[in-house]
Amino acid sequence: MVTDLPFSPFAERNKTPLWEVLKRVVAGDAAILEIASGTGQHAPHFMAQSAACGWKWHWQPTEADASCLSTIDARGAGVSGLLPAGVLDVRELEAWPRAPRAEGWDAIFACNLLHISPLACSTALMQGAARRLQPQGHLIVYGPFVIPGVETVPSNLAFDADLKRRNAAWGLRSLKDVQVQAEQAGLHLQECCEMPANNVVLVFRR
Ligand SMILES: C[S@@+](CC[C@H](N)C(=O)[O-])C[C@H]1O[C@@H](n2cnc3c(N)ncnc32)[C@H](O)[C@@H]1O
Repeated sequence: MVTDLPFSPFAERNKTPLWEVLKRVVAGDAAILEIASGTGQHAPHFMAQSAACGWKWHWQPTEADASCLSTIDARGAGVSGLLPAGVLDVRELEAWPRAPRAEGWDAIFACNLLHISPLACSTALMQGAARRLQPQGHLIVYGPFVIPGVETVPSNLAFDADLKRRNAAWGLRSLKDVQVQAEQAGLHLQECCEMPANNVVLVFRR
């Protein structure tokens, strides 16, 4: 019974606007690596939508927290192209799974990870993606960010303070800092799409 599984209302709310970005950026058959899958709600939704478009997607969920794997796999049971979840701490660069094609993954997706993990995870995400994406591949990152020249809304400031209270290494990342980390790794910001609830999707290219 999927209804008894751990559930994220945020993932449920953002999966529809996220799909609108994924279908435009990925558009076609693709192999996709997901970092920090959490409750595993995104992959089955995106797989159903991509199948409805007639695309063949191969999706590899991963999570640093091994206790999440059974939930991710239960949600993904029977979904064609959705692989069993694997343990991956984004900082373990040598452990990142390889794509089915030698060229690399067509897309790497990380949702709501960077503000709820140490800054080293942001650096690692950029470095790992630069190593594992195929030459035309995309890194797609969702979350709340501090955007230069844009006033951070009070709800995001309060969220940032709350995150830092819970863990001094957490907190909203500055788009400027993340962009510097990306450039150092060899990735370029292609677009920053506004999303509901003061979140954004960042799309990076090699
Ligand atoms: C807020 S949840 C987001 C989960 C899911 N992506 C979503 O949007 O619902 C953050 C997730 O990041 C994972 N995480 C934290 N540190 C990580 C790391 N170093 N490497 C990979 N995942 C990590 C946590 O275990 C948690 O599941």
